[in-house]
Amino acid sequence: MENVSGKIVAITGASSGLGAETARQLVAAGAKVVLGARRLDRLQALADELGAANVAVFALDVTDRDQVRAFIDFAVTTFGRVDVVINNAGIMPLAPLDMARLDEWDQAIDVNIKGVLWGIAAALPHFQAQKSGHFINVSSVAGHTVRQGNAVYAATKHAVRVISEGLRQEVKAYNIRTTIISPGAVDTELPASVKAPGVAEGIAGFYEKLAIPASSFGRCVLFAISQPADMDVNEILYRPTAQEG
Ligand SMILES: NC(=O)c1ccc[n+]([C@@H]2O[C@H](COP(=O)([O-])OP(=O)(O)OC[C@H]3O[C@@H](n4cnc5c(N)ncnc54)[C@H](OP(=O)(O)O)[C@@H]3O)[C@@H](O)[C@H]2O)c1
Repeated sequence: MENVSGKIVAITGASSGLGAETARQLVAAGAKVVLGARRLDRLQALADELGAANVAVFALDVTDRDQVRAFIDFAVTTFGRVDVVINNAGIMPLAPLDMARLDEWDQAIDVNIKGVLWGIAAALPHFQAQKSGHFINVSSVAGHTVRQGNAVYAATKHAVRVISEGLRQEVKAYNIRTTIISPGAVDTELPASVKAPGVAEGIAGFYEKLAIPASSFGRCVLFAISQPADMDVNEILYRPTAQEG
């Protein structure tokens, strides 16, 4: 595919769901991918599926800023440069605030907000030096709305959009592109990160009824990357056709 073939793409949260499916689509389009997540066995299985020449894997916890820097440096030393960083790792521990699940709030902020910031901090010097690069940061429909029971998750996803828009404005001089992708319900392992009793069941039912395949997200990524270098796709918001809110 035009403008995708030969690109080096680093993906956080690539062991399942949107990240894994996007890796498949990118390799099929001729890109090379560097996959990060904590479950190294899953990454290794994906690398075996996609072919060793196209894939490098790295055990990564995005809450650790040193590991995120090492992940991006690993991409550059393995393939010579990095063209696209997809800050995708995320969790969705939904629960009403009065359940006071404070550890989950901490974790959601650490993974969904700080993980994205560490990804930006790690890749920016490389992108600035090469005067090109592309950040794709994963927000959500919950980055545009808030509902009862998702305040903390929605706050993290709003933060991803705000940070990405600030980044967009600041990196013009370096020819760097920034894309926010905000999906609705997509069939992945994400509902498993909802642990609150009484909440998890409802979310699982919602996803079972509505969720569309992860290939939807991969197509958005390929669309953004495949545009010519003078076109910066800043934001994509999409939902299953049947999803109301
Ligand atoms: N699916 C949807 O409906 C939907 C909708 C809107 C937005 N999103 C967003 O899409 C992104 C991907 O989620 P998904 O739907 O593909 O869910 P998923 O299947 O649960 O994948 C989440 C990925 O994030 C990784 N991850 C979680 N914590 C991590 C950490 N501390 N360090 C490194 N990696 C970590 C997981 O890998 P390990 O556990 O192996 O580390 C996994 O690869 C998330 O940001 C999510 O908020 C999803």
